[in-house]
Parts: sequence; structure tokens; C-alpha cells
Amino acid sequence: MLIAPPKSTVPPLALTGVLVGQWATNALFTAIDLDIFAPIKDGQTTASAIAKKLKLDEKGVAVILDGLVGMQLLERKNGGYNLTDVAELYLLKSSPLYLGDFFAFGRGPGAEAWKSLGEVIRTGKPKQEVNKEETAEKFFPDLAAALFPLNYTTAAMVADELKIDKLAGAPHALDVAAGSAVWSIPMAERCSNLKVDALDFPVVLKVAERFTQKYGVQDRYQYLSGDWREVTLQPNSYDLVILGHILHSEGAAASKLLLDKLQKAVKSGGRIVIAEFMPNEHRTGPLFPLLFAINMYLQTSDGCVFSVAELKSLLESNGFHEVKRLDLPFFKGESPVVVATKK
Ligand SMILES: C[S@@+](CC[C@H](N)C(=O)[O-])C[C@H]1O[C@@H](n2cnc3c(N)ncnc32)[C@H](O)[C@@H]1O
Repeated sequence: MLIAPPKSTVPPLALTGVLVGQWATNALFTAIDLDIFAPIKDGQTTASAIAKKLKLDEKGVAVILDGLVGMQLLERKNGGYNLTDVAELYLLKSSPLYLGDFFAFGRGPGAEAWKSLGEVIRTGKPKQEVNKEETAEKFFPDLAAALFPLNYTTAAMVADELKIDKLAGAPHALDVAAGSAVWSIPMAERCSNLKVDALDFPVVLKVAERFTQKYGVQDRYQYLSGDWREVTLQPNSYDLVILGHILHSEGAAASKLLLDKLQKAVKSGGRIVIAEFMPNEHRTGPLFPLLFAINMYLQTSDGCVFSVAELKSLLESNGFHEVKRLDLPFFKGESPVVVATKK
């Protein structure tokens, strides 16, 4: 029996786009492994010159270079290839904002958890709980360091937008779940009288210590070591509290407890700064926070992503007001940072 010819009303571009994403990831990881970006910076701009310099197959180099052009990481110029600004800033090992370690994390521990997504959805049990001290102490030291170049520029913009350089007197900040202290270091750089307490698990605080030394602000840091649930905070003692990418691993109920604890520790009129990957109110985009919610589902028992309205409601029910999403350069109204003030 003849079958009726299938009819389509739309091309399957949404599907081929997903497959292309996987190819692009592999092409980028391979280009990083082969260190293809360094010779371009040094002036070897053709496939044959790069292949010769790195002792690689010329045709292979040519196809990967063209792929990187398609990904807007390289551009074609005068018969050769140039680095785009993104590649120059984030893909050269010599750059202080090199993101190779972050990608290495995504391919290793990050990718491992994603392989179990089906099993986790069947059982409803996360693959691991990265915010529990024992796991966190293995998982976070490398990740916290790798995240530094991803967040440093945004953190510097936050410090400028909040006019941290104008803070008078003896301002005191608390960097909660500090990791490398990336969110507070640009503040300490701009305000020489700012003192910072960095709170995190002991092993991760070693990473914060390393970065504060590297940026020359270590003298003004003190460390509060342990799970935030256990650490005692002095009431009404902070002008500023920073929560950089911690609420998403805690989830709604624990975030409420954390905000309640922090509200008591902030001075009246003091500010709270929250950095998160925020989906829109209808959870239809952007893609990154929507997929990040899956990542949290895989790696925590209660983790989630919060929209701006959800953060606003959490903050307002815990004694903060004047909640606003910061308007930062780069982000076109979709910055990852929300700020509020204690009443
Ligand atoms: C995603 S990292 C963010 C680090 C840094 N704030 C940043 O934005 O780069 C999350 C951090 O939260 C810390 N953390 C997770 N659960 C914690 C808890 N219960 N108490 C204290 N720190 C915690 C981890 O050790 C890790 O450094």
C-alpha cells in the first residue's frame, strides 16, 4: 500500500539548531585544546601557517577555522583569519579573562551530571547535591576560580553603577558564598576604606584568599568559614551584602531563610546585591536561565532559577524595598543583577 506523501508546514530548523549547538561545543573545545587562537594573535593568520606552526592537518585546521567564523569567534580578513573581541578577551591563555578553565569544568563534572538527566527525571533524585558541605568542598574550589573571568567585568560594572567609590566612613560588606570573591573584589578595588567579610566553606575561602592577594585587596578581607546556616552574623553591621549565584542552588524556601538572616545583619538603608540567571516572568526565555534550571534540578535537591518578580517578592517579604534590576552596559535591559535596600 502506498503511503501518503508527508506534508510539512515548517522546516525542522529548531531541531537542527540544537544539533548544531553540540557540534559548535565540540569544535570550540577542540580549538581550545589545540590552542588554535594563540598563533592567530601572533600573526599566523592563514590555515596553512597555523597548521604548520601547530603541526596539524591543514584541511582540518581550515574547516575548524571556518566553523569558528560561523560562531563569530573569528572573522575573515585579507585572505586570513582575525580574532574577534570575544576570542581575544576570553580564549587566549595569556588573557586575564581566559575562560578555558570554565569550559574544562563544563566538559568534565558539568557534562557528567547532564548524562544522567533521564535517570534523575525518572527518580526525582538529583545526581548530587553540590551545596552540601562535603560535595561543595570537592566541587566548588575549581569552579569558583573558573567563574572569576566570567563575572569580573559584570561585578566591576555593578561597583560603578552603585558608586561604591563614593562610600564614606568605614563601609562594611558581606560577600555571601563568595567563591573567588569576584563580586566584592572590584568594590574593594574602587573603595580603599571598604572592609569585606567573605563567607564560604573553608576550602573555597582559600580560593578567595588567593584572588584577593592577586588583586592586592587582601588586607581588607576577613573570612567567615562554614555553611551560611551555621555562621553567626552581627546584627545591623553591614552596609552592603552580596549574593553572587547562591540563591539558585538553595531554592525558594532556603533563600527565604537566608534573606531573613541577612536582613537582620544589614544596617537600615544598607543594600543587598543579588546576581542570578533570571528567566522572564512567563519562563519563555532567555534560553540560558531556562537550561540552567535543568542544571540546578540535576545537581541540587531544591535549586531553581528566579525571575525578577520572584526575587522582588522574596526581598519584599523579608524587609527590603526599592527592588530594581540594575541597568548595566552589555546586557540591554537583561542584566543578571538585582539590588534592593533595607527599610
Ligand atoms: C556558583 S558558586 C558562586 C561563587 C561566587 N559568588 C561567584 O559568583 O563566582 C556558589 C558558591 O556558594 C558556596 N556555597 C554553596 N552552598 C553554601 C552554603 N550552604 N554555605 C556557604 N557557602 C555555600 C560554594 O562553596 C560556592 O563558592
